[in-house]
Amino acid sequence: MNISIIGSGYVGLVTGACFAELGNKVICVDNDEAKVALLKKGIIPIYEPGLSELIKNNVGKKRLIFSSSIKDAVKNSEVIFIAVGTPSLPHGEADLTGIENVAQNIALNMTGYRLIVEKSTVPVETGEWVKKTISTYVKRNIKFDVASNPEFLKEGSAINDFMHPDRIVIGVESNKARDLLVSLYKPLNAPIVVTNIKSAEIIKHSSNAFLATKISFINAISKICDKVGADVKEVAQGMGLDKRIGPSFLNAGAGYGGSCFPKDLDAFINISEKMGYDFNLLKAVKEINEDQREFIFQKIKKSLWIVKGKTVAVLGLSFKPNTDDIRSAPSIDIIKRLQEEGAKIHVYDPQSIEKAKAVLDKVHFCKDPYEACKGAECLLVITEWNEFKELDFIKVKKLLKRPLIVDGRNIYEPQKLEKIGFTYVGIGRGKS
Ligand code: UGA
Repeated sequence: MNISIIGSGYVGLVTGACFAELGNKVICVDNDEAKVALLKKGIIPIYEPGLSELIKNNVGKKRLIFSSSIKDAVKNSEVIFIAVGTPSLPHGEADLTGIENVAQNIALNMTGYRLIVEKSTVPVETGEWVKKTISTYVKRNIKFDVASNPEFLKEGSAINDFMHPDRIVIGVESNKARDLLVSLYKPLNAPIVVTNIKSAEIIKHSSNAFLATKISFINAISKICDKVGADVKEVAQGMGLDKRIGPSFLNAGAGYGGSCFPKDLDAFINISEKMGYDFNLLKAVKEINEDQREFIFQKIKKSLWIVKGKTVAVLGLSFKPNTDDIRSAPSIDIIKRLQEEGAKIHVYDPQSIEKAKAVLDKVHFCKDPYEACKGAECLLVITEWNEFKELDFIKVKKLLKRPLIVDGRNIYEPQKLEKIGFTYVGIGRGKS
């Protein structure tokens, strides 16, 4: 099939590359000409395992091209995915300016039937607006369909998530739109849920909100564990084996960050309010998540007593492992809070240092975890990169001025570290 993806961000690039890999002819469009020029040279602006190779392979086979022209893309594609950003406005509302803009541009350039698919995460009823916008701007009486096809891929495992999804959700209003999307996804052999457009839009917001709720739930439990001397990891294991609950997204720690959960929760709370429902549950989820950053800072303060003038070695900047993304990352808030209190910061991350340089000031960026530990009074782990799980702790102990580890993702075994002589402080791992 000839398809185009408007918006070459995270979701757009992965979707485009994967559809090309499945044998389609794909045009990835972006209005940022500099970005398009880089992509044409094979330079991928984000770090995502396997993406660069996938793009190179499909560009080589002439199934994937990059362009800054919506006009060309619309002319040459029967199915057009909209994957532009929907950032948060100050009150949490999703900014849909990009979506409207693209919808207008598609309408102005349509030469025959087109299926326009929302891929970006959008509030319910956006599909209605996209339909109205296209009807308003389309030149002649050209037929079109609008569909919603939310994406559930995770950063860091995006290609695998796209190729092996738990389910594909397709929100449509016509058999033609349904058939086109079903045939596009057929090679994936995954369960397909066909709904109306509004249900599909709500499925996306609800899924992210539910996962965020699981995380905040276990983080709330971690606070009780700390108070009474229980271990939240054991609690999560005991809960997670119940098939109705499931073990995933029950890791207590620094809480969620990234470009999706924080923004989508805000947008869901906002759209619910507009529809006349006060989504208190999600407000609490958000509050617990934000509080988790302060909770970690307070743990450090309690352990060090005086923070001013002390050095904290921070391991991990990205909001989760296997990505260089630091958007809404807990690390940034925690580092700033420590600096506010007068701490000096050494920091190491395998991928995010360049991005962090733009948002962090007066921080010593290190080339490896050991350089970060040198002369520090506290080692703080905020992101659970694999390389942090396998540190040489004898060496770490020698390098630190004081053998204190604050494990913000519960990746270590307290007894093991205590045996070596560390003071271990985890999240909900007992009285700390
Ligand atoms: C999330 C969803 O998982 C995807 O399904 C969705 O497609 C995507 O948002 C999106 O809407 O685009 P992502 O933000 O890439 O994906 O990352 P996740 O792996 O879901 O992690 C989100 C945050 O939750 C991370 O900061 C992670 O550290 C945190 N987390 C996750 C926990 O604190 N505890 C857990 O048990 C699991």
